[in-house]
Amino acid sequence: MKIRQETPQDFQAVYEINHLAFEQEGESQLIEKIRKGKTFVRELSLVAEQNEKVIGHILFSKIKIIGEQSYPSLALAPMAVHPDFQNKGIGSKLVIAGLQIAKNLNFEHVIVLGHKDFYPNFGFQKASKWNIQCPFEVPDDHFMAIELMEGSLENKGGFVEYPPVFNDV
Ligand SMILES: CC(C)(COP(=O)(O)OP(=O)(O)OC[C@H]1O[C@@H](n2cnc3c(N)ncnc32)[C@H](O)[C@@H]1OP(=O)(O)O)[C@@H](O)C(=O)NCCC(=O)NCCS
Repeated sequence: MKIRQETPQDFQAVYEINHLAFEQEGESQLIEKIRKGKTFVRELSLVAEQNEKVIGHILFSKIKIIGEQSYPSLALAPMAVHPDFQNKGIGSKLVIAGLQIAKNLNFEHVIVLGHKDFYPNFGFQKASKWNIQCPFEVPDDHFMAIELMEGSLENKGGFVEYPPVFNDV
């Protein structure tokens, strides 16, 4: 299994994996919209490939934390592993690879809205620890953040501003 940057040849497979994993097309459509927008980071749209077949995908895109100032950050969203290949460690490898690339690109932190028992495996903690708030109404422990550089979220409290396309999902 290898993890690599997504190419246009993968778009169809990525659409299908997200459709199957989420059992709806909202996330697949969201990815298509994000790819066309300014918040897209080409290096952070990654696929997991096994035997030349794409079986997982993760995407991080640019967001802002609006506090005393506007702080640039990243959102991990969405991610999906083909249902036939879940619970085999592929999702974890995608998260770890993505966080490393984000760090190499000098992003300082990442926000995620998702499974409260999955993302803490990689060091995510409740975003409320830093007074970072979600614009959507969600349980406190589902909204998480991780510092890619130690201390980078200190005094960066505020509301996360997602690109408007996220409102459609
Ligand atoms: C979440 C997902 C990306 C994880 O990928 P994966 O390859 O199955 O994950 P791994 O094998 O690396 O890790 C397994 C862990 O994923 C988590 N997980 C998987 N499915 C989950 C679910 N439906 N709800 C909560 N956590 C889940 C669990 O923490 C599990 O750990 P456990 O074995 O101790 O229970 C994958 O299950 C998926 O595509 N799910 C459907 C879409 C989705 O929910 N995407 C994420 C939105 S935040």
